[in-house]
Amino acid sequence: MLMKLNPTNSIGVFDSGIGGLTVVRAVIEQLPSENIIYFGDTARVPYGVKSPETISRYATQITEFLLQQKVKLLIVACNTMAAVAYEAIKDLSPVPVLGVVDAGARSAVAETHNKYVGVIGTPATINSNAYQKAIKGLDSDIRVISQPCPLFVPLVEEGWLDHQVTRITAQEYLKPVVAQNIDTLVLGCTHYPLLKPLLREILGNQITLVDSAQTIAKETEELLRRNGLQSIQGISPEYRFYVTDVPLRFKEIGERFLGRTLSNITVVKW
Ligand code: DGL
Repeated sequence: MLMKLNPTNSIGVFDSGIGGLTVVRAVIEQLPSENIIYFGDTARVPYGVKSPETISRYATQITEFLLQQKVKLLIVACNTMAAVAYEAIKDLSPVPVLGVVDAGARSAVAETHNKYVGVIGTPATINSNAYQKAIKGLDSDIRVISQPCPLFVPLVEEGWLDHQVTRITAQEYLKPVVAQNIDTLVLGCTHYPLLKPLLREILGNQITLVDSAQTIAKETEELLRRNGLQSIQGISPEYRFYVTDVPLRFKEIGERFLGRTLSNITVVKW
């Protein structure tokens, strides 16, 4: 059962690390008056190569932490957690939960014309088949071609967004997907929206790129409106960032994801 929620409470966004700041960025652009609390498990990232049991355990811990901060909505920005632990998170939460996998799937189904959809993500996301299930649950005629791209996360964190190594890696990963004649490609990982210009260069303009960060920002607006949970328009919002570690180059990489200055950071010692 959903509890009575206060519209001035924050939106809680969480991720395995700092990649989810791409979702925060999209939510800020879509909803500039909302307070946001972000949680990034920077001490234990990456999740994308971990087992479903470990990912679910970590996801539960983060959910409990954010619920203690009295959030009015939870956004699972991490594709890996949304793919593996979405049901566990929802079961635990008395506030609404939105996940990037459902958002990306809905968007892909709306975009495809020829019903051939590619999905790229971390090994854990692809192995879970969550995108495939979500897309086929909406339209069973769609063929889903999935491809894990484990090297993309470190390449993006290195800042090699327009680098020859990333270009060759992307060509290699995408070759079998493009060979299946897809007209839509889901960027099923927090880090991939930063590769959009390079992917566009490789794929041309005929393939639609589904950016789950943008999709979930739109869904957040709809959900808040539907439930009368929008904050007061025009106020200057507060953004708080919780992390479990401050790794090297944290601020530099985080600001690249967020597209603005990163401040108000608290380290949570677990
Ligand atoms: N946030 C993860 C995702 O979207 C990528 C980083 C990781 O492997 O933890 O799947």
